[in-house]
Amino acid sequence: LKVRTFTTSIRAQAVPALTQDDLKKLAADKAVVYVKSGMVLGLGTGSTAAFVVDKLGHLLKTGQLTNIIGIPTSKRTEEQAKSLNIPLTTLDEHPVLDLAIDGADEVDPDLNLVKGRGGALLREKMVEAASKSFVVVADETKLVSGLGGSKLAMPVEVVQFCWKYNLIRLQELFKEEGVEAKLRVDGAGKPYVTDNFNYIVDLYFETPIRDGVSAGKEIGKLEGVVEHGLFLDMATAVIIAGTSGVEVKTK
Ligand code: 5RP
Repeated sequence: LKVRTFTTSIRAQAVPALTQDDLKKLAADKAVVYVKSGMVLGLGTGSTAAFVVDKLGHLLKTGQLTNIIGIPTSKRTEEQAKSLNIPLTTLDEHPVLDLAIDGADEVDPDLNLVKGRGGALLREKMVEAASKSFVVVADETKLVSGLGGSKLAMPVEVVQFCWKYNLIRLQELFKEEGVEAKLRVDGAGKPYVTDNFNYIVDLYFETPIRDGVSAGKEIGKLEGVVEHGLFLDMATAVIIAGTSGVEVKTK
């Protein structure tokens, strides 16, 4: 496996410090260059993907893009796309997409990802797996040397029925990585419910996951687990915006 990196410098003299949102917008600018008129597009979820959807809306409105049709990966993105008059479809109607663009929570050196801190992992994985290309947009804070290495959540979507039973089984599966498993709750302290009416168990690792492929398989074997946030060998390109430039990493 060989990851290639192309960097475009974005710094000029006396440029004010870029905020994280500025970096996300720069990544989004670069990503929409991949979009061509007539494409069926996967529309990601999260703050970075939302900048991409905004830009697509603008390109459509100004006639710079025509005839694109999107498949949103969450109800939030569906609402945003509708508000921008982006035509929408479903995987049932378009089972093969030309391109999906989405954010990520972690990106490792081989372009494997953790996704789903925004809770949309199931629809994201379905849409992105069905896409001929999958371009990830992120700022440099998302780079990790190993998945699980950010010490932030690696989400697992589980059915509501006996969720605690699966939380304990997930904790047991990763006891060597020193995992802490927690049910995700919303702002009111109630269990967070996904767009698919499931719960999310967040896994917090003390040390990065040693073997992502086997971790994904083992999690997938648990009955009642609907999907997990390891997106392995799925990204075609990752656009990383940092304070010293925008990098495009491809396989
Ligand atoms: C949502 C996701 C998001 O793409 C991920 O959480 C990144 O979000 P943001 O761009 O807001 O950092 O996987 O389920």
